[in-house]
Amino acid sequence: MKRALLISLTAILFVRAASADVCKIDVSASDQMRFDHQVLRIDSGCGEVEVNFTNTGKQPAKIMGHNWVLTRTKDLAPVAIAGMGAGFANNYQVPGDSRIIAATKLIGGGESTSVKFSVAALKAGDEYSFFCSSPGHYSIMKGRFEIAVGNSLANAQAANATR
Ligand code: CO
Repeated sequence: MKRALLISLTAILFVRAASADVCKIDVSASDQMRFDHQVLRIDSGCGEVEVNFTNTGKQPAKIMGHNWVLTRTKDLAPVAIAGMGAGFANNYQVPGDSRIIAATKLIGGGESTSVKFSVAALKAGDEYSFFCSSPGHYSIMKGRFEIAVGNSLANAQAANATR
């Protein structure tokens, strides 16, 4: 009797976890000014996306700091260029820049940070990119951010697990 109750409780918890739909993505960047992914993919069924970003390098943020910034692809270069002027104290992001959909702070080697955003901020049919807004980095530290409509969440996560 006790065991049957335990199994049914477990099933309920599992369903609740699945319906929370927070999709997690792990991304890292190195002293070589590279992200470990060129494409990140989420399922359109994700309610929220949590990006966990790690700088695997050894240099401090002032020397080789990186961040993870998401914009529409057409906004990438203008946002990166504007961010240079915003300076280190602002994580090389113009405060309140409405073109920035999501962004982490700038972090140095050995540090981690994260950002969470709603998939409702993304429109089907638009093209999105992620990049690092540290001065001069965006030309090579960038990649596509794709919304996989109709793909299973498992497929999307598998795509993010491999380069
Ligand atoms: Co960078």
